[in-house]
Formats: sequence, C-alpha cells, structure tokens
Amino acid sequence: MTQPNQATAKTNWLSICICIVLCIALAGCGSFQQPVMQPPTDTPQVEIVSESATQMPTALPTATSMPPTATPTEPPPTATLAPTATPEPTSAPQSPIDRLVAVRNADNGAALFHTFQEAANYSCANCHSTTSEKELIGPGLLNIKHRAAQRSPEQSPAEYIYQSIVDTKAYVVEGYDAELMPANWAEIYSDLEIFDIVAFLMTLEGRSDIDDPDPAAETSSVDMSVYGEIALPDTADAERGAELFAELQSAAGFACAGCHFTDSELRLIGPGLQNVGARAETRADGQSAVEYLLRAIVNPADYLVPNYDAGVEPDNYAQIFSEAELYDLIAYLLTL
Ligand code: HEC
Ligand code: HEC
Repeated sequence: MTQPNQATAKTNWLSICICIVLCIALAGCGSFQQPVMQPPTDTPQVEIVSESATQMPTALPTATSMPPTATPTEPPPTATLAPTATPEPTSAPQSPIDRLVAVRNADNGAALFHTFQEAANYSCANCHSTTSEKELIGPGLLNIKHRAAQRSPEQSPAEYIYQSIVDTKAYVVEGYDAELMPANWAEIYSDLEIFDIVAFLMTLEGRSDIDDPDPAAETSSVDMSVYGEIALPDTADAERGAELFAELQSAAGFACAGCHFTDSELRLIGPGLQNVGARAETRADGQSAVEYLLRAIVNPADYLVPNYDAGVEPDNYAQIFSEAELYDLIAYLLTL
C-alpha cells in the first residue's frame, strides 16, 4: 500500500514539476513575443493597438503561410471600393459592363464617336449631338446617363447605352425610326472600343437645353418679324448661295448638300430640292415661295414635308447665317 502511495506522490510531484516547467515555458513564450512587438514601436500604447491590428492580418498569413486567409482578406477592399466609386445614383450591384466601362478610356471613346466609319456611312456624331439634348438625326446625348434610367429602369445606364449601340432595336426611342441608326457597330468596333464610347457618353452632363414645360418647336422657332418684309432683295447672290449650300456648317453638323440633292427630287435625308421653287408656292397657304423657303430653312418645324420627320433638319440656321446669306441660299434654291 505504501509503495503505490509513494508512486502516486512521485507522479504527482512529477506532473506538478512538468506543469510548472510548461507554465514557465508558456509565460516565457508570451513575454518573448511581446518584447519583440514592443521594441520597434516606441510609440504610446494607443498607437500600438492600431499598429498591431494592422500588422496582424498581414503578418498572420505569411507567418502561418495560409493563402486561403489571404484571399478572404482581399474581397473586403473591393467591396468597400465599389460603394465609394458610385455613391450617388446606383445602389444596385455593379454588373460586369458597369465595371468595365468604369475603367475604359473616355478620350478614346470621344475620338471613336467622331470618326467617320465607311461601313456605317456615318460617324456617331453625324447623328447625335453631345452638347445638346435636342435631336439632330438621332436624339441628343447630353445627360444620356440620367435619361437612361427612365428609358430602361431595370438596366444600369452603362448597360442601356451599350445595348443602344450593339442592339439598336432592343429599345427604340419614342418618335424615332428604328431603322435609322446603323445596326452594324458591333462589327465595326470591338467590344472594348464600344466600352470606350460608352465611357465617353457617361461623361456627357450639363444643363438641359430642353425646356421642361414645352420642348416643342415654338421655343426654338425664330421670330420671323426680324426679317421684315419677306421678299428676295436685289442683292441676293445665287452663286454665293450655292457655295453656302455645299459648305459644312459645324454648328449644324452638316452641309445642306449632305441632306438634299439639288439635281433630283429624290430623298437623301431630306427631300430632293430640284424644282423646290415651284413647289414652295403651293406648300403653305398665303406664303410666297421666298417666305416658305425662308421658313423651311430657319424654322423647319413650321411646315413638315409629308413623309418626313420633324427635327431632322437643323433648327439653328438663323444663328449660323446672316439674313443676307439666307437670301443668297433662297436665290440659289429658286434656280434649281
Ligand atoms: C444615321 C444616324 C445615326 C448614327 C450614325 C448613330 N445613331 Fe444612335 N440613334 C439614332 C437614332 C435615330 C436613334 C433613336 C432610335 C433608336 O432608339 O434606335 C438613336 C439612338 C441612340 C441611343 C439611345 C439614345 C436615347 O436617348 O436613349 C444611343 C445611346 C446612341 N444612339 C448612340 C450612338 C452611337 C454611340 C453611335 C456610333 C457608334 C450612333 N448612335 C450612331 C441614329 C444614329
Ligand atoms: C440633317 C439633314 C438636313 C440638313 C443639314 C438640311 N436639311 Fe433641309 N430638310 C431636311 C428634312 C428631313 C426636310 C423635310 C422635313 C421638314 O420639312 O422639315 C427638309 C426640308 C427642307 C426644305 C423644304 C423642302 C420642300 O420640299 O418643301 C428646304 C427648302 C430645305 N430643307 C432647305 C435646306 C437648306 C437650304 C439647308 C441648309 C441651310 C438644309 N435644308 C439643311 C433635312 C435637312
């Protein structure tokens, strides 16, 4: 009985000794680690907390060499980046198109937008103003980013604009002809180039130039009384008119000749103007040919030629041409 007792006492003492040694070792480890952390940071204790907090995650994965912990720590930064990138309008999660467009080159997009493409027979800029919401041939694209949300609420603005380019018939803007916009941009431009264009269009923001209450022709129409009595002055010069007709007017985006044949009555974009002088007499009741032609140039919405759309002919010729030049143009039209 004594031997077993002595044995248990020995093992008890042994285990106590082991315990003490272990405790010292553990305590040593603890105090061994702490001095290492503290000496490099001779800063106040409050700072140590934040420093060790930031050091820990980076130190841990490398120390324990656990890549899986390294990857989970990366998503949070991206998750916090996304909300800061788009704090205002879109609370919806970003689609791949949104993320791609966000990093694309808008300057390159602007250049592509203005580049004439043989395969489409146009540049985007031929049909779309970037400084106005008014229509040229297609809708003005100023503030398109904001209008996109109304057009197609289930898509993000970038998605809607991208779709408008690659799948023109998916959404046809009210009042426009679905066939008008070339449908082959996806063959002309690579996807990345189209993302550049979308990135450019997303930058088009500014004060709306469409008056909210009545965007109709009245607001842009010219007060015809500024032209006094509407009759062809003796000084009107048909040759000069012919030159003006052929000149590109950058403020309008086109030359008259870009939209009108002069040796035919066939349709180009606008009606052919051969014999327009004779037709002009009959177009509008009570208007002389000269008055009708003047209105047709400065206020195209006043009279709409049958089978043609309003808003295609630029409505800013009164600002582009002087009164004398307008009469030169009319003198030329009367010779056709
Ligand atoms: C020949 C004229 C023409 C050309 C060239 C053209 N478009 Fe269009 N575009 C239109 C017309 C017309 C519409 C309206 C009808 C529709 O929705 O398809 C339109 C619609 C759009 C819309 C939707 C606008 C809105 O208010 O919702 C966008 C965006 C657009 N075009 C971008 C482009 C880009 C970018 C290019 C060049 C890659 C281009 N367009 C070339 C005529 C054109
Ligand atoms: C972007 C195309 C475009 C440009 C540029 C353009 N027009 Fe037109 N024009 C049209 C369209 C479309 C019509 C028919 C719709 C209408 O009556 O407004 C038209 C109608 C006319 C008419 C009436 C024709 C008729 O048979 O009654 C005349 C005249 C005319 N344009 C002259 C001009 C002159 C002059 C210029 C240059 C200063 C010019 N247009 C520039 C597209 C254009």
